Amino acid sequence: MGVEIRVEGLRKSFGRQVIWDDVSLTIPAGEISALLGPSGTGKSVFLKNLVGLLRPDRGHVYVGGGDVPRLRERDLYRMRRTFGVLFQDGALFGSMNVFDNIAFPLREHTKKGEAEIRRIVLEKMDMVGLSGSGDKLPGEISGGMKKRAGLARALVLEPEIILADEPDSGLDPVRTAYLNQLFVDVNAEFGTTFLIVTHDIGTARVLPDNLGLLFRRGLVMFGPREMILSSTHPAVNQFFNARREGPIGMAEEKDVAELAAENAPAPPPAPIPPQLMPSDGRIRPSMHRPGEWLAAHGVTPPPGSFVDENGRDWRTEWDALVAARRHPRP
Ligand SMILES: Nc1ncnc2c1ncn2[C@@H]1O[C@H](COP(=O)(O)OP(=O)(O)O)[C@@H](O)[C@H]1O
Ligand SMILES: [Mg+2]
Repeated sequence: MGVEIRVEGLRKSFGRQVIWDDVSLTIPAGEISALLGPSGTGKSVFLKNLVGLLRPDRGHVYVGGGDVPRLRERDLYRMRRTFGVLFQDGALFGSMNVFDNIAFPLREHTKKGEAEIRRIVLEKMDMVGLSGSGDKLPGEISGGMKKRAGLARALVLEPEIILADEPDSGLDPVRTAYLNQLFVDVNAEFGTTFLIVTHDIGTARVLPDNLGLLFRRGLVMFGPREMILSSTHPAVNQFFNARREGPIGMAEEKDVAELAAENAPAPPPAPIPPQLMPSDGRIRPSMHRPGEWLAAHGVTPPPGSFVDENGRDWRTEWDALVAARRHPRP
């Protein structure tokens, strides 16, 4: 399960405004990837290009054998079923209760009977922690519940890929943590490919397998979490360590004087936190032993990396988990 998205040489402009150019990356199948960038850098526009809601000026988006910008309308409609999309506010129908909102794609896209639809909807509601809320209208539930309802609706057709546009915006840290846990658990259960747009650095540091940064009309870097979080590239270092010093300014772009100052060497990256585990403790196929990427590339982990808030070192924890899997207790 899970399908990759291969983007090659993508460029998008509106009139004379180039949003980004020459974007190439592969979102690996079955992995969790996150895309970050200052606001206005075209993250939402990028997601829309992936599903064919917007058309790039040039370039390719290969998904499951097709090239999205070149699909005919009918093929595009079919291809969209590969994706579950979670829009910023959940994008629920205001006049429909939670149950009917979640059931909507099943009624629209399948010939399933009401009994089966009910079974699937209740199962997904249970999964996202919305059991018993089916009768409520979107106006009667909290922001966090709306996002979870949006996720349940994105899940009912069991998509190969889930795209989420700032799912954590407007959520408090506790609800954000729950939602992130849910993404990890869905990925562990179904192997769904995730691409999550966020500007929550906390989310970016613990959730995904891969991270990317959009800045100054291009993709600055995309790669494994350990590569990005240990990077000394000025913009990458600044962004993922949430620092004030660096090329990214309060305004979208810094002025010339500020640009001169940015050539100072980047400060050492902060400790890399352990990655969020599935709640049942299993290891997802795309997870690696903490520090594996760094070791393979001769990079010394920033001091204090992979130690959680309770002082446990996840390299040791990982080895214990792997050993327990090899020799399960009766
Ligand atoms: N349909 C559109 N027509 C014209 N300009 C657009 C359209 N959609 C987005 N833009 C512009 O593209 C830029 C990037 O927007 P967006 O993708 O929403 O940024 P982000 O999601 O990174 O905050 C913005 O300057 C926005 O005004
Ligand atoms: Mg956006």
